Amino acid sequence: MVFGRINIYSGKDLDGIRLAAYASAQVLDRVANAVVPGMTTAEIDMLAAEFIKDTGGKSCFLGYHGYPAHICISINNEVVHGIGSPTRIVQPGDLVSLDVGVTVGGYCGDNARTVCAGPFCSELGQRLMDTTKAALDAGIEQAVEGNTINDIGLAIEQVVHHAGFEVVRDMVGHGCGKNMHEPPEVPNYFIRGRSPVLKEGMVLAIEPMVNAGTWRITIDRKDGWTVRTADASLSAHFENQILVTKDKPEILTCLNNPKTTLLLKER
Ligand code: CO
Repeated sequence: MVFGRINIYSGKDLDGIRLAAYASAQVLDRVANAVVPGMTTAEIDMLAAEFIKDTGGKSCFLGYHGYPAHICISINNEVVHGIGSPTRIVQPGDLVSLDVGVTVGGYCGDNARTVCAGPFCSELGQRLMDTTKAALDAGIEQAVEGNTINDIGLAIEQVVHHAGFEVVRDMVGHGCGKNMHEPPEVPNYFIRGRSPVLKEGMVLAIEPMVNAGTWRITIDRKDGWTVRTADASLSAHFENQILVTKDKPEILTCLNNPKTTLLLKER
């Protein structure tokens, strides 16, 4: 666990983060709606690059520790960090996890969603996606001042275990504002002992990765990036960037955040 200083955002910085988060949400939504069987994942990445350009921002991921694509596209047993490829064709019923980070004006937005490529989805796949989204929502609900990081992880873990699934342990959520990855780490499970207390102004990317089988993962030895479930089971991933407040967390990566709507009107 990395315990660094946790940024508290307000004013102009917070508005900047709101706009970056909004841009990432727009891109993710557009990409998610565009995914259909028959596309290659390289085509999806190229489309994402266009959508990112439309926002006036840049990909947070491209070049990050040498990451070679604009977004992450991870299919079925791939958990995260999948790289678009011209030879990988989306099949009917595939679970496609899309992770999009956009930087605008020096601030970073980060969000992810798993969609089914259709025309229909397996019952297991649907339940896995629904559970992961519900776990994320339960985690977000805990992101209020006075709670701890552990409250978020516990809430997520409970939803996942109740559904009979497992939550990835080797990768965690994170603070996200001026930089894509800032303290604190936000695990999707409970860790014994103390964890940071949440304060108004903290901006967190909460991102449960949920596997239908074991929580254990492997990393592709050839590309060094693609993370897969160790038992080839299905995986889903949902991520929102949120602002910790005193009462109700503000979801920054959505298309109808009232604070962001106001900001956009002012400009
Ligand atoms: Co993230």
